[in-house]
Amino acid sequence: MTDNALAGARVLLGVGGGIAAYKAADLVRRLRDAGAEVRVVMTANATRFVSALTFQALSGHAVRDSLWDESAEAAMGHIELARWASQVLVAPATVDIIARLAQGRADDLLATLCLATGAPVAIAPAMNQQMWAHPATQANLATLRQRGVRVFGPDSGGQACGEFGAGRLMEPHSLVAALAATQAPGDLAGWSVLVSAGPTYEDIDPVRFIGNRSSGRMGFAVAAAAAARGADVTLVAGPVALATPAGVRRIDVRGARQMHEAVLGLAGASDVYVAAAAVGDFRPDQVAPRKLKKASDATTLELRLVQNPDILADMAALTGRPFLVGFAAETERVEAHARDKLERKRLDLVAANEVGPGRGFEAEDNALLLLWPGGREALPRAGKRELAEALLDRIVQLRQGRQDGNPA
Ligand code: CTP
Repeated sequence: MTDNALAGARVLLGVGGGIAAYKAADLVRRLRDAGAEVRVVMTANATRFVSALTFQALSGHAVRDSLWDESAEAAMGHIELARWASQVLVAPATVDIIARLAQGRADDLLATLCLATGAPVAIAPAMNQQMWAHPATQANLATLRQRGVRVFGPDSGGQACGEFGAGRLMEPHSLVAALAATQAPGDLAGWSVLVSAGPTYEDIDPVRFIGNRSSGRMGFAVAAAAAARGADVTLVAGPVALATPAGVRRIDVRGARQMHEAVLGLAGASDVYVAAAAVGDFRPDQVAPRKLKKASDATTLELRLVQNPDILADMAALTGRPFLVGFAAETERVEAHARDKLERKRLDLVAANEVGPGRGFEAEDNALLLLWPGGREALPRAGKRELAEALLDRIVQLRQGRQDGNPA
């Protein structure tokens, strides 16, 4: 993490009662190293795992764990504390805290603060993998996301309970990066981001083409989110019926070869390339100059197709190439195919999703599986803008980790 990535931030850290609470101690230190001022609020159960004294020593402030502490209220009332925060982060967020936040309860100090604050709230869940996967937990998370609560992690791996799966608290250095990424709207300032979106149309004759079901919405959402976060964004769009997002430079193309030329021409000027376009792999080997007519005696028509250039693979072959993000739309064995694509195309990150009737391309929302060398993150079903933000958060974190030499 770069120094001062959180300079000026006032982080209210809510510590929940799970075994991962011990990692919150390291988190406080790292938040302060990044320049943030930190005040810690613990749930009653959290105090069974780690002592308040640990957090007091690390944060440099008294720790609160009750709404009914008269001397603490006299020093700084809970509403004042809610107003003080510029960011609220609940880490670890237990299944119970998530449920209480989703219900809007105010049954302890932490839940009350989350309701009373005007600051953005983020949660970093940590729990047993079965509890994480439970539909009740996922429904509560969906409610919170809908309200704009950011969800960091969880990571997958071995768990304190001896099981293996999703539910580990995101590592403290990643949490700091994730928080820094959401802190300022301009966290991508100075970045040049190139996005391709939509389908390609491969012409057969003047009226017919071979296309695909891509709506372009995912790529447009990435472009919009990156621009809103301060990046200089160029969007190379196949034929789609979508408005250009604010602040985005747009280049319209039709076929894969045109898209190839536009994208490769901008490679040197881009820090990141997000290949969200569904590029046609093949095109008719020639475009008929006039509309093809039915021959009265023919019941079949043969089209000879030739392969299009692979834009992403050609980008990957460049020296000094941008950070490369590919999409993998699959109808089966999503993770295996996507991991293969990551390695085969030598990408930095792949966003995979399952496509089929009503899923992926034409749907308003989507679910993505992010894969990168040595890591994965499943982003549950959400609106495409929300997924775009989470994708950008991950890109920020991976590029940052690279610069810092941290294993991403
Ligand atoms: N892509 C590209 N140029 C192509 C084909 C695909 O840049 N000619 C990019 C897409 O934009 C996407 C990624 O490659 O980001 C994956 O595309 P996909 O067609 O699913 O992958 P392929 O490598 O073609 O693999 P397969 O067809 O076997 O699934």
